[in-house]
Amino acid sequence: MKVGILGSGLMGGKLGTIFARAGHEVVFSYSHSPEKLQKLARAARGKARAGTPAEAAQDADAVLLAVHWSRVDDVLQQVGDLSGKVVVSCSLPMNADDSDLVVVHTSSGAEELAKKVPAAHVVSAFGTVPSEVLFDVFAARRKTTRPSLVYCGDEAKSKKTAAKLIRDVGFDPIDAGPLRVARYTEPFTLLIARLAYETTGGPRLAYRFLRPF
Ligand SMILES: NC(=O)c1ccc[n+]([C@@H]2O[C@H](COP(=O)([O-])OP(=O)(O)OC[C@H]3O[C@@H](n4cnc5c(N)ncnc54)[C@H](OP(=O)(O)O)[C@@H]3O)[C@@H](O)[C@H]2O)c1
Repeated sequence: MKVGILGSGLMGGKLGTIFARAGHEVVFSYSHSPEKLQKLARAARGKARAGTPAEAAQDADAVLLAVHWSRVDDVLQQVGDLSGKVVVSCSLPMNADDSDLVVVHTSSGAEELAKKVPAAHVVSAFGTVPSEVLFDVFAARRKTTRPSLVYCGDEAKSKKTAAKLIRDVGFDPIDAGPLRVARYTEPFTLLIARLAYETTGGPRLAYRFLRPF
């Protein structure tokens, strides 16, 4: 699969690296530093290169949106036309100091994003885990019971694409339903962040849903 990375920081840099190591063709984009994008592409050791957001989206089977909420409009403007594209978003609608959600209850970041790119197919995925656990999950993908990863979206084919990427990273994809379910998954992430960053256990944290009875 060809995957464009829009935002090559903690989430985009790591997920892009893992996608490349899983055999996908990756273009890293959107950083203050073009050198950082080149470095990420080299270190990914797969079919990876650096590019502009427009280049990352061109011919991509999926793009990963991994920028702060305040940068979404800017990166979308740089990308241009996303008609028909699968947009997998891990971006949460956080305020400037990342202390709270700015969209919640009556909508979600994922739904607001979908309104900005109505001709694209938005799937909300990867946003419910800390970046610190991603390489661990990938490394353990054949060794342990896989952690869950919830995703949601409105279009079946794009959800299949997202589920493949989720599986390739090493998670067990859990289809949580339509995009509006992001109203629940996004606040859930704040619980995960609390456990990851404000308890002694540390941020290498994932979750698994069980139906043991
Ligand atoms: N970090 C997590 O564990 C985590 C977990 C779940 C969800 N999320 C969500 O995922 C999204 C991405 O988070 P993140 O932690 O990966 O963010 P991040 O590390 O800050 O990465 C953001 C990327 O955007 C780039 N960027 C920001 N402003 C820019 C500008 N003006 N021009 C060009 N590039 C610019 C950054 O450039 P530089 O490369 O120059 O820094 C970086 O590559 C957020 O919406 C966050 O809420 C994060």
